[in-house]
Amino acid sequence: CGIVGYVGTRPALGIVLDGLRRLEYRGYDSAGVAVVNGDQLLTDKRAGKLANLEKSLAETPTDGIGEGTTGIGHTRWATHGGPTDRNAHPHVSRDGRVAVIHNGIIENFAKLRADLEAGGVEFSSDTDTECVAHLLAAELADLPGLGPQALAAAMRRVCQRLEGAFTLLAVDTQAPEAVVGARRNSPLVVGRGKGENYLASDVSAFIEHTREAVELGQDQVVLITPEGIEITDFDGQPADGKDFHIDWDASAAEKGGYDYFMLKEIAEQPSAVADTLLGRLKETGEIILDEVRLTDQDLRDVDKVFIVACGTAYHAGLVAKYAIEHWTRIPCEVELASEFRYRDPVLDRSTLVVAISQSGETMDTLMALRHAKEQKARVLAICNTNGSTIPRESDAVLYTHAGPEIAVASTKAFLTQLVACYLVGLHLAQVRGIKYADEVAAVVAQLQEMPGKVQEVLATMEPVRALARSLAEAKSVLFIGRHVGYPVALEGALKLKELAYMHAEGFAAGELKHGPIALIDEGCPVVCVVPSPAGRGVLHDKIVSNIQEIRARGAQTIVIAEEGDDAVVPYADHLVRVPRTPTLLAPLVTTVPLQVLACEIAATRGHDVDQPRNLAKSVTVE
Ligand code: G6P
Repeated sequence: CGIVGYVGTRPALGIVLDGLRRLEYRGYDSAGVAVVNGDQLLTDKRAGKLANLEKSLAETPTDGIGEGTTGIGHTRWATHGGPTDRNAHPHVSRDGRVAVIHNGIIENFAKLRADLEAGGVEFSSDTDTECVAHLLAAELADLPGLGPQALAAAMRRVCQRLEGAFTLLAVDTQAPEAVVGARRNSPLVVGRGKGENYLASDVSAFIEHTREAVELGQDQVVLITPEGIEITDFDGQPADGKDFHIDWDASAAEKGGYDYFMLKEIAEQPSAVADTLLGRLKETGEIILDEVRLTDQDLRDVDKVFIVACGTAYHAGLVAKYAIEHWTRIPCEVELASEFRYRDPVLDRSTLVVAISQSGETMDTLMALRHAKEQKARVLAICNTNGSTIPRESDAVLYTHAGPEIAVASTKAFLTQLVACYLVGLHLAQVRGIKYADEVAAVVAQLQEMPGKVQEVLATMEPVRALARSLAEAKSVLFIGRHVGYPVALEGALKLKELAYMHAEGFAAGELKHGPIALIDEGCPVVCVVPSPAGRGVLHDKIVSNIQEIRARGAQTIVIAEEGDDAVVPYADHLVRVPRTPTLLAPLVTTVPLQVLACEIAATRGHDVDQPRNLAKSVTVE
């Protein structure tokens, strides 16, 4: 979910709505606002995208809502309770005094709700959040004073009773110039203005107004008023936030002339890849990480690597396995973060866990990381969001520097995660002294050529778009690949599911004959990711045989193969060329046509490319 709070001297509504617009990628099942104007609490909330709320506010504005200078807003990704008007946030206490918005899951809400209901409180939604509004009202009624301090004190008391993960914001008609926030695990940052202050899930919500921000720690409550920011822990002990300056440009988060953020982000991939490499490679070829709280000896002691991640980041991890094992000869496992800690993985001090996350806030990944740390493993984060929770809690960090990624379906973050994974593999190989020293040195040089190669792929995408339009009605699309082409096939299929809502599956090409080949019928499109014939010739020949097998069963083959690979020509109904690239680095070029394909199919089918149904960019619940 996305959360915004404002307190100052300007009307809050427009500022909160602008902030929500920038956070909408975090969830868009419903949206709502609450504004305090004098002693009145004015709210509006609607199911569906933010546009529905804006329409309602324009057509039937709640009296006075445009005037109040204190406000909070929420854009939701539903967890408890379907995406309806009733379940949209804010939730208001029965006495109409406080309004609350929330991101996360309150795990003991059933018990809290039962207790409140036993005490006579009637609920008007199915959410876990509503109990916070009632608990806050009860605490406020119990506290002697009124005003901002009472609101903060009540919030602290309530937080002590909550289990789970949450960011909460609340406003109170008896503290008209204050917003109180609280966080446990879920993200919340403060924006420091002049005579006004902000709270938000991430800085993009207030970057138009201020570039000075304050990072909060875990289990903290923050009170903002026009003049001040006060942070305490849940017991009321004063705590310090960490000030930081936001250095990216607001225009980086605008569409810049493209129809969708996704198209812009696909186009930015050459420079994103270059930015990931920038400053990381010393002239001697040595790799530099950003934050390393580990010694070289720690890295030399590593005897096993575990990569944990979700979604697209998990696919980057699958590619990394091939590179890391090959270059370092250390066994490397890749696991979905949501599975990792629940199956009791074997970890110890000499295990290196690599957590990959664009947002740095994905709860599944964060929990996997914490589990790894409890077991004394070292954790290295690959992340795109400076100062987010996952890098903060890791022993070492490599930032991808892809810039803000707004489209829900990840593109440039994926490519830069791949680059970061290569860098980690090379760094480990260098620190440990390696078998393939020459190869590692060569890869360092080849990596520098990748931005140009990605650019070359982008320049030849028009036929892929045309092909995509012809596939828009397909019932199902299969993707096959071998070696690092296998995770690319998985990523191609995921993109199509996410964006086009089509059935799509990725398979290891060799596995096709063990079952999935039964899915193939006349005309079924099969995308084949072909490895370079130069690198591993056997691999290449094997997949060419697989392509023949599927073609023999009437499939329509879409072959992604490198320039000069003539062996595939007779079996390709459609041939997409990518530049010659060393095998391990090939996903940097072979993924790009699959992104374009999914984007164009989704647009042809009339879907919202940037905000596909049911998804959210950053999933901060388990
Ligand atoms: C969500 C997004 C995916 C993303 C995954 C992991 O499910 O919809 O696109 O790959 O989270 O996100 P992260 O921020 O941890 O990379």
